[in-house]
Amino acid sequence: MQKLLGNTIDWLDRRLGLRSAFLPILTHPVPRGLGWFYVFGSATLSMFLLQIITGICLALVYVPSASDAYTSLEYLNREQPLGWLLRAVHYWSASGMVVLLALHATRVFLMGAFKYPRELTWLLGVGLLFTTLGLAFTGQVLRWDQDAYWGVGVGAAMMGRVPVVGPALVHVLLGGANIGGETLSRFFGLHVFVLPGLTILLLVPHLYLVVRQGISARPRAGKPVDPRTYDAEYAAELAAGEPFFPYDFTKDAIFSACCVLVVFTLAVYFGPKGPSGPPDPTLIAAEPRPDWYFLPLFALLALSPPEMETAIMLVMPVVLVAVLVLVPFVAGKGERSPRRRPVAVLFVLVFFVIYGVLGYLGNVAPWSPDMNAWSGTPVPERMVKNLTPAQLQGAAVLQNKTCRNCHALDGEGGRRGPDLTSVATRLTRDELIRQVIQGGGNMPAYGQQLSPAEVEVLVSFLTTLKPDGEPRPHAGDVAADQ
Ligand code: HEC
Repeated sequence: MQKLLGNTIDWLDRRLGLRSAFLPILTHPVPRGLGWFYVFGSATLSMFLLQIITGICLALVYVPSASDAYTSLEYLNREQPLGWLLRAVHYWSASGMVVLLALHATRVFLMGAFKYPRELTWLLGVGLLFTTLGLAFTGQVLRWDQDAYWGVGVGAAMMGRVPVVGPALVHVLLGGANIGGETLSRFFGLHVFVLPGLTILLLVPHLYLVVRQGISARPRAGKPVDPRTYDAEYAAELAAGEPFFPYDFTKDAIFSACCVLVVFTLAVYFGPKGPSGPPDPTLIAAEPRPDWYFLPLFALLALSPPEMETAIMLVMPVVLVAVLVLVPFVAGKGERSPRRRPVAVLFVLVFFVIYGVLGYLGNVAPWSPDMNAWSGTPVPERMVKNLTPAQLQGAAVLQNKTCRNCHALDGEGGRRGPDLTSVATRLTRDELIRQVIQGGGNMPAYGQQLSPAEVEVLVSFLTTLKPDGEPRPHAGDVAADQ
């Protein structure tokens, strides 16, 4: 039996040459004394493999259609044997992947391992960070529950603010003007084909470079990186090094195994996440929460004053990408030891403190405004003067249907949406109808909550909202309105 196996392996190897291709990788020398800080990268890879395996199994059952997605997840949770475990492991290993990736990137940054000659490895890693976050974001949308619905809404609102191409981008992302069945198909395609493909496409050269450039030695204070002498120094380090297998390989394997064990324990103990209730854009009272990694962003948007939202949504991601991309070029030489790089250490500390505080606030700050805050505030008197009976009724609908909790009139009211005092100078009647019925850009759709007659009178009231100087629509227009 053993002989047969040995013969088969020999037969294959004579044709594939795998031994000569991969043995050197396993036995290549690495610097001595790497310690346990170097295990996070391979553990991230293990989580990614776990994601792929559980993800393929999930895709066999999951139905990416707006009407059936929710039911298929409930089916996995309740009917399919061990379906709940599959979902739970997929969810918890996703969290694990984000955590380990953050640890890996932090370790590389603090130990200056991105410096010469490993700048490209770092850049590919930055790409991997964003594909991972993309996978996390698109993944939570596939749950297609209330959280998902709002998540897409926020994502679309961010994209919609990109100058010039924003609206087109939103159209591409949503697969239409609204969040609907096409949106889910898009996110499914992104989550199971595009983003995993991109991740693998970046991962292969990342790993190739790790092997080619070798694992950086532990940083020593007072031994800066100088591209003119570094290669010789590193060669000397390797000459005195040890083979990767079995010493460091074993550390990687032990730590990865522990991570997988932790993921399974969490999965069994806490079970899968959601789905949290069928998506319903008219459920205004729902308090959606994104998965934990996006809580800080969620808090930032929920708490920032509306005037600053655009700046935060547009400028922050660009700055973040720019900083990460520029790091190896700005700091590609010099000291590697964190003891000699106080600015780098401070940067990491500040980042994690802000992330933590915002994450905490994201957990307590309501995304939706306080829905009772302004309901009792009447429509300002000057706005109801000289109105037709239908328009007056519209003012009453505005009053009763919680619009004021998000919208101010004459500066009084909620701040989530724009002040409506002079909305009729901005929007046409058709646009007003669409906004009320379909919502959009963080506003819930009121189509199901208002009768056609209520929408009619509400919009005819909204069309009167113009500054005093401008002519109000007179009786003739109103008749045409109705
Ligand atoms: C949960 C908060 C919320 C509630 C409740 C709400 N809106 Fe909105 N509304 C918004 C937001 C946010 C926007 C901005 C959308 C955007 O950026 O595209 C908005 C936009 C609008 C606009 C377009 C304003 C403009 O200048 O572009 C109109 C009109 C409007 N809402 C009317 C209403 C009416 C009428 C109601 C009640 C039936 C209502 N809203 C209830 C959040 C809300």
